[in-house]
Amino acid sequence: MGSEKTNDTMEKIVSLCKRRGYIFPSSEIYGGLTSCWDYGPLGAELKRNLKTYWWEAMTARRDDIEGLDAAILMHPKVWHTSGHVAEFNDPMVDCKTCKARFRADKLAESRCPNKPSKSPLECGGELTEARNFNLMFKTHMGPVEDSSSEIYLRPETAQGIYVNFLNVKNSSRQKIPFGIAQIGKAFRNEITPGNFTFRTREFEQMEMQFFIEPSEDAKWMEYWREQRWQWYEGLGINMSKLRWREHASDELAHYAKAAWDVEYEYPFGWQELEGVHNRTDFDLRRHMEESGKDLRYQDDRFPEKFIPYIIETSAGCDRTLLTILVDAYDEAEVKGEKRVFLHLSPKVAPIKVAIFPLVKKEGMPEYAEKVYHDLKKKFKVFYDESGAVGRRYARMDEAGTPYCVTVDGQTLQDDTMTLRERDSMEQTRMKTAEVFDFLEKKING
Ligand code: GAP
Repeated sequence: MGSEKTNDTMEKIVSLCKRRGYIFPSSEIYGGLTSCWDYGPLGAELKRNLKTYWWEAMTARRDDIEGLDAAILMHPKVWHTSGHVAEFNDPMVDCKTCKARFRADKLAESRCPNKPSKSPLECGGELTEARNFNLMFKTHMGPVEDSSSEIYLRPETAQGIYVNFLNVKNSSRQKIPFGIAQIGKAFRNEITPGNFTFRTREFEQMEMQFFIEPSEDAKWMEYWREQRWQWYEGLGINMSKLRWREHASDELAHYAKAAWDVEYEYPFGWQELEGVHNRTDFDLRRHMEESGKDLRYQDDRFPEKFIPYIIETSAGCDRTLLTILVDAYDEAEVKGEKRVFLHLSPKVAPIKVAIFPLVKKEGMPEYAEKVYHDLKKKFKVFYDESGAVGRRYARMDEAGTPYCVTVDGQTLQDDTMTLRERDSMEQTRMKTAEVFDFLEKKING
């Protein structure tokens, strides 16, 4: 196990995702839509489990973070005030030869559409000067399509949190330091989307904004970096594939004083997975100036009003899901046959356990069906009675199911079943009641 992940691993993962119902190209029967993807039955389940894992760690299990679910469409003034209309740009160049467009700062890693083995720097095409391209999608609200009805699809969920700062503080009676967390869709008209779901134009973010007293920014930045690192450990990611990278001052976003990225080593290189940012009081100050509402903070401990600083943790949900799949993907030879394994953590695996009767007779299906119905009350379970048991294990290994339980002739004599673990492929005979306890501990423990 532990096969090396090269660039063709991505092709294999895309193919596995389609085959097993993790991720499909969007609108595929019409030829697909560039950079848009649909989550199939297993993918939707994995995404839901991932979001729950994040929500529990970042909100439900904490006293100092509240949840929010703000609208995607916001008052257009939000995006003028936040600086996104003026500054949320990527530098773009056109190729005069093939008319393709590229991000000027990513030319070396882009591919020429006419000569895919070459980058636009090597293919001989003549490039225009770089010019700024705003990444926000625009649309119109209401029946009249003119500049007065222009609104934007949000490019980050964070602004929904800032404009609700007072609402959440007053309704929850939270005191600084406290946070607001939200999961939701964001949209960016990326010039060069790609690498499957890594960079898309529609994606989900899992963001948390932590409001603090300004002099404590360094302390809370360290705290949240530590928390987020532990979260990835808990998710079962191979930690040798993760690293921190601090942004140099010339790459900081317009709102940030300091920024650290969690990077993962994908088959296509080290890339950002999550950002932890010190956004200072930039956002609340700007919204206070433009809305005229007093967004300053005060309580008995702070006689002077002040604008809180914000430490932000911003993770891409789709990107984390891709990371989980890449990290879990493995090929191994079992009894002379090349097999695919997805070593997904039981916490997020879409199917937690599969139940097999060894053969379709002698009361085994009836016993297995009863176990299936009992387990289904607690976990997502899959029942399979078709084919040789080895083939059934292989199908589950590829789908990422961590446990399989087999009912055989002995089960009917002594109420024991065989529990087989995906990663070690070890089989252990246990009492049926013990199997239930074992699974409970491994999956929810
Ligand atoms: N609110 C801060 C913010 O949005 P960001 O670094 O631009 O910061 C945060 O984005 C995270 O959102 C990224 O680390 C990445 O995981 C995800 N993300 C950003 N753009 C994306 C895209 N085009 N496709 C998929 N995920 C994206």
